[in-house]
Amino acid sequence: MRKIIVAIDGHSSTGKSTFAKAIAAKLGYVYVDTGAMYRSVTLYALQQQFIKEQGGISEKDIVAHLPAINITFRYNKGTGASDTYLNGENVEQEIRGFNVSQYVSLVSAIPEVRERMVRLQQEMGVHKGIVMDGRDIGTVVFPQAELKIFMTADPQVRAERRYKEMKEKGSEVPFEEILENVKHRDYEDEHRAVAPLRRAPGALLLDNSHLTPEQQMEWFLKQLALIRTQ
Ligand code: DC
Repeated sequence: MRKIIVAIDGHSSTGKSTFAKAIAAKLGYVYVDTGAMYRSVTLYALQQQFIKEQGGISEKDIVAHLPAINITFRYNKGTGASDTYLNGENVEQEIRGFNVSQYVSLVSAIPEVRERMVRLQQEMGVHKGIVMDGRDIGTVVFPQAELKIFMTADPQVRAERRYKEMKEKGSEVPFEEILENVKHRDYEDEHRAVAPLRRAPGALLLDNSHLTPEQQMEWFLKQLALIRTQ
């Protein structure tokens, strides 16, 4: 069957990557987590001390060293998912840490960083058969993707999901604080100067406030069948 590109964007804590991974597994496609790419550049900048805890961030150094940053994904048999490699080293765990999370929005706002990541992402999609998630996939990276999806959910529901997740990990952050953080991140994503989060023209809206993972997959397969008949 003809391979396509599935582009998934949307608000934070909507389960984009879980959904994207499930689709890739179902179709036998490659899954690309573009957030992991921005996180890897941030980790590199921290390792090279282009970001200093007190002294700010040297955009000039980060931009100058972009050609030295090699990001790849490799399948991990143990987890059944793919891990992120930065210059040959598995950084899957490290890029999810607090320090990287704290600085990644600054690094992903640098236009030259975005240009390079977008080019790499477009190269990964030349043979199609790819599911990519992020913030600008349907708007910038693959505006011509055969299937574009914009995911959202009620902020209250997303905050409840995160609250539960964090509680299971032993964290005691008050619910109100998490809800505020969800709303704040939506605002930041939608109002930043470069590649703000937007529903791309032609993107299908998936509000999963009240949908189980199974119902979301059912919805996806229906949409896929529809475009296959077009
Ligand atoms: O999805 P995530 O939390 O791993 O994303 C990490 C950061 O990278 C977040 O600040 C949004 C940014 N990002 C982006 O600017 N463009 C993308 N395509 C993906 C992520």
